[in-house]
Amino acid sequence: MKVSGSVRVPGDKSITHRVLLLSALTKGISHIGGALTSLDAQSSARVLRQLGAEVSPLRKGATVTVRGRGRFQRPERALFCGNSGTTTRLLLGLLAAHRFSATLTGDASLRRRPMRRVTTPLATMGARFTEQDGDGLPVTIRGGALRPLRYEMPVSSAQVKSAILLAGMAGEVDVSLQEPSGRSRDHTERLLQAFGYPISERDGWLHLRPGGRLEPFDLQVPGDPSSAAFLVGAAVLAESGELCISGVGLNPTRIGFLEVLSRMGARTTMENLAPHFGEPVGDLLVRPAPLTGTEVKASEIPGLIDEIPLLAVLASRASGTTTFRQVGELRVKESDRLGLIAENLRSVGAEAEVVGDDLVVNGRESVPRGSVRTAGDHRLAMAFAVLGTVPGARIRIDDLACAAVSFPDFPETLRSISGGRA
Ligand code: S3P
Repeated sequence: MKVSGSVRVPGDKSITHRVLLLSALTKGISHIGGALTSLDAQSSARVLRQLGAEVSPLRKGATVTVRGRGRFQRPERALFCGNSGTTTRLLLGLLAAHRFSATLTGDASLRRRPMRRVTTPLATMGARFTEQDGDGLPVTIRGGALRPLRYEMPVSSAQVKSAILLAGMAGEVDVSLQEPSGRSRDHTERLLQAFGYPISERDGWLHLRPGGRLEPFDLQVPGDPSSAAFLVGAAVLAESGELCISGVGLNPTRIGFLEVLSRMGARTTMENLAPHFGEPVGDLLVRPAPLTGTEVKASEIPGLIDEIPLLAVLASRASGTTTFRQVGELRVKESDRLGLIAENLRSVGAEAEVVGDDLVVNGRESVPRGSVRTAGDHRLAMAFAVLGTVPGARIRIDDLACAAVSFPDFPETLRSISGGRA
């Protein structure tokens, strides 16, 4: 396959959720350009409307207008968060500071995902929770006046960190937290700092103090590096050509996959890097390259957590072994991603196994052929679609439509860069 062209990827999912949530809490009108319009972003917009914000329809290419009332209003019905863990967990942080009760629920995948990692620290701050079905959704929160929190997080997670920071912001109390290993994405910190909230870091502890003020804003969301990663992967696997992905977010806490790819022998360069509304944005140039296996350390995992499915399929084409250390978190993503990466790699003829909490992939030259079970997980579907671009590959994916959770038009975009081959 020859790869060519210059493409843009849809808006960053993490940033879109955060700016929708924050704009809905301001008093006045915000304008958000380049917002993601995927199913997950629609989930944030939908629940924010239920909480009293006016959010214009999320349509590709259109600026989103959000009119917030300064506070959320008590919702009349349960807040259905679809497949979106980020919507659910970040919203719980904001609702912790609101004196009414609200019930959050979601699709079958989201209902199974752990929520105590967020409700435990928020309960320590003073919010009250009623679970209906153990550690998952539905959950009912009743917020109110909050207490300061000093908290050692049991897992490195940007969603948990953000829920606590947002509770501190909305409840006007100090919060301090520590992540156990590596550094998770820092979009919430960057946004809150832009609104004047004092955030500092010392001895591995992150502190937020009250003092800022949310105001309506105009902002342009950069392209999502996690979506770009799939196109990068396809370009690396190609036989010739060069791909440019322009206007993509290159926040250092999101691009750990580029560092791993460079260790594996891939040739990517970042160009035209410039700060854009508090986030580094630029163009990514990628060329095909033969890959060799590597070890991905536990401390690197938070910086590439969403790119492991893609890196694992690339590792199956590399010479030698690739080991991803301590990736147990993948068991509680949109699916049991850890088990399904290994199972699906084996099912297309590759060699992969889960050893404790590590994922071990041995590269092979044989052409991948077989069936893939995604369990509705968008990142599994896209990773195996990328593997399907290997010449001669025949991979049947049970549900590629689920890519629309984060990357609308993914199949078309993949086809466009590979001259119709994918
Ligand atoms: C996200 C954080 C990560 C990531 C998810 C988005 C965010 O989840 O997997 O896709 O926007 O904060 P965890 O915080 O559970 O690692």
